[in-house]
Amino acid sequence: MSTHIAAAPGEIADTVLLPGDPLRAEWIARTYLDDVTCYSRVRNMLGFTGTYQGTRVSVQGTGMGQPSLAIYVHELLAEYGARTLVRVGSCGSMVEHVRIRDVVIGLSAATDSSMNALRFEGFHYAPTADFSLVRGCVERAEAAGTTFHVGQLFSTDSFYHDRADLSDRLRDYGVIAVEMEAAALYTIAAKFGARALSVCTVSDNLVTGEQTTADERERTFGEMVELTLGAVSA
Ligand code: ADE
Repeated sequence: MSTHIAAAPGEIADTVLLPGDPLRAEWIARTYLDDVTCYSRVRNMLGFTGTYQGTRVSVQGTGMGQPSLAIYVHELLAEYGARTLVRVGSCGSMVEHVRIRDVVIGLSAATDSSMNALRFEGFHYAPTADFSLVRGCVERAEAAGTTFHVGQLFSTDSFYHDRADLSDRLRDYGVIAVEMEAAALYTIAAKFGARALSVCTVSDNLVTGEQTTADERERTFGEMVELTLGAVSA
């Protein structure tokens, strides 16, 4: 076992889906995977392994925000040898044309987090998704007729911001959606030479103020998980 994950060696697949909410990890595993086993319940941050159409896949809850996700991602890569990590979560749209219920495929991620500021000192690193995963998800989304957007995310440490003007500046520079994890995921995966991507459904639009209902969030989340599982098992 690692410090925060109770799996034995070999119990976690090379490919891991990463929802923030551990109960979503359980829902994904029980809804979409066969032969499911739960490999960790440490801190109730549940992790499961099963198969999707014959491909071995794990699903690991990460909690919200980059410091929490970074713990699980580091241990998956350093201790369990994971090679492909895909976050499946929600985001807030920062532009009018990216509408609630759409899917956002995060090509890169700007951040206000001090994690990379400390890691790179004077440099400004550009956390970037794996191209083959981006292409796989795009192909799946096109085939499924899903409305999707590929673009830059903003991974913030603060869900509640005092600085609304920051959103305007980021929008001016091409950021399409805000979430709280992708920059750390892309950075740590790069360090270990692994593939990473963040796929999000739009739960709220910061420009129009629209929000999805709980039912819509569950349905769009399921569609996004199916498209992601299709891409990683192809
Ligand atoms: N995830 C979903 N909506 C969000 C928002 N508005 N800010 C940060 N993360 C989010």
